[in-house]
Amino acid sequence: MRTHPNMTVVGAGQVGATVGHLLMLKGLADVTLIDVVPGLAQGKALDLLQAAAIEHQSARVTGTTDFAAMADSRIVVVTAGMARKPGMSRDDLLNANANIVGPIAEQISRRAPQAIVLVVTNPLDVMTYLVWQRTGFARSRVMGMAGALDAGRLRAFLAERLKVDPAKIQATVLGSHGDLMVSVKSSMTVDGKPLSGFLSDSEINQVIARTRDGGAEIVSLLKTSSAYYAPGSGVVQMIQAIVRDEHRVLPCAAVLDGEYGLKDVCIGVPAELASAGLVRVVEQPLADEERQALHRAAQQVKESIQVICSPKT
Ligand SMILES: NC(=O)c1ccc[n+]([C@@H]2O[C@H](COP(=O)([O-])OP(=O)(O)OC[C@H]3O[C@@H](n4cnc5c(N)ncnc54)[C@H](O)[C@@H]3O)[C@@H](O)[C@H]2O)c1
Repeated sequence: MRTHPNMTVVGAGQVGATVGHLLMLKGLADVTLIDVVPGLAQGKALDLLQAAAIEHQSARVTGTTDFAAMADSRIVVVTAGMARKPGMSRDDLLNANANIVGPIAEQISRRAPQAIVLVVTNPLDVMTYLVWQRTGFARSRVMGMAGALDAGRLRAFLAERLKVDPAKIQATVLGSHGDLMVSVKSSMTVDGKPLSGFLSDSEINQVIARTRDGGAEIVSLLKTSSAYYAPGSGVVQMIQAIVRDEHRVLPCAAVLDGEYGLKDVCIGVPAELASAGLVRVVEQPLADEERQALHRAAQQVKESIQVICSPKT
């Protein structure tokens, strides 16, 4: 008897396969991996299916190059794309990944019209906006994962510094994934107490800077790949909140419609996730400089959107 919802992960690379692995381990879904490289998704799916038998999980995992396999998916995760290569400008990457993600969004709209879409491909905020535009889905059904990762990194670094369990640390990260990440200092607590009671402002700033550069730190060590375990966990945290109807507030890249004084842009904000998707953007109080930083990040995303998207009519 079938007990798992169907989910599809487009792009069976490092992040995509990690998402598939975690979904199987947690028994959250039957997973279809789709990749353009012949054999790649099939090979990883076979490996995961065998892992499921060892883990006593009944989830089915399949792999294919055929986009028709995403039909009836409850959630589609988009990880297809490339990382920036030497000599590539930001705009080169933007155009390259838009040319991959745009057609995938059209496939989702046609083949899985009821799905909730979770975007991972960078540049994250722009790709999420592109998927929203090309699918034509309600904004509640298109969201991006980056804030869950950035908040996780921040909590990990703070926990290491304070020698406490990361579960005791609360922290919110807004804005764009990358240089224009906005850490909300007033939201950071340890065991419910303000972080300012444990670290000086300059120590907090050091941790925030390490978080902002957290992806680059890993790339400089791995050399040929970027992070995938924590990004995979960030995606599955969001999926779990949706399939279990948790109504949990997590940082997500969301298309805004006036919240935080922003419109026609996608940016990281706290949002409530439940079975219908992103059911509410949560407007939390921000200090003046945090609000200005959020608007600066949104402006940069808007400029990139203009490079790749035609205006929505
Ligand atoms: N949002 C975040 O926080 C975050 C974190 C980590 C990585 N990323 C981004 O996620 C993306 C994937 O990273 P990765 O490390 O898994 O890369 P990867 O190179 O390991 O995997 C990407 C996969 O996409 C596949 N692909 C390319 N075009 C495709 C298409 N048209 N249809 C289906 N599959 C296609 C490739 O064959 C490859 O297997 C990158 O853009 C990366 O920058 C984002």
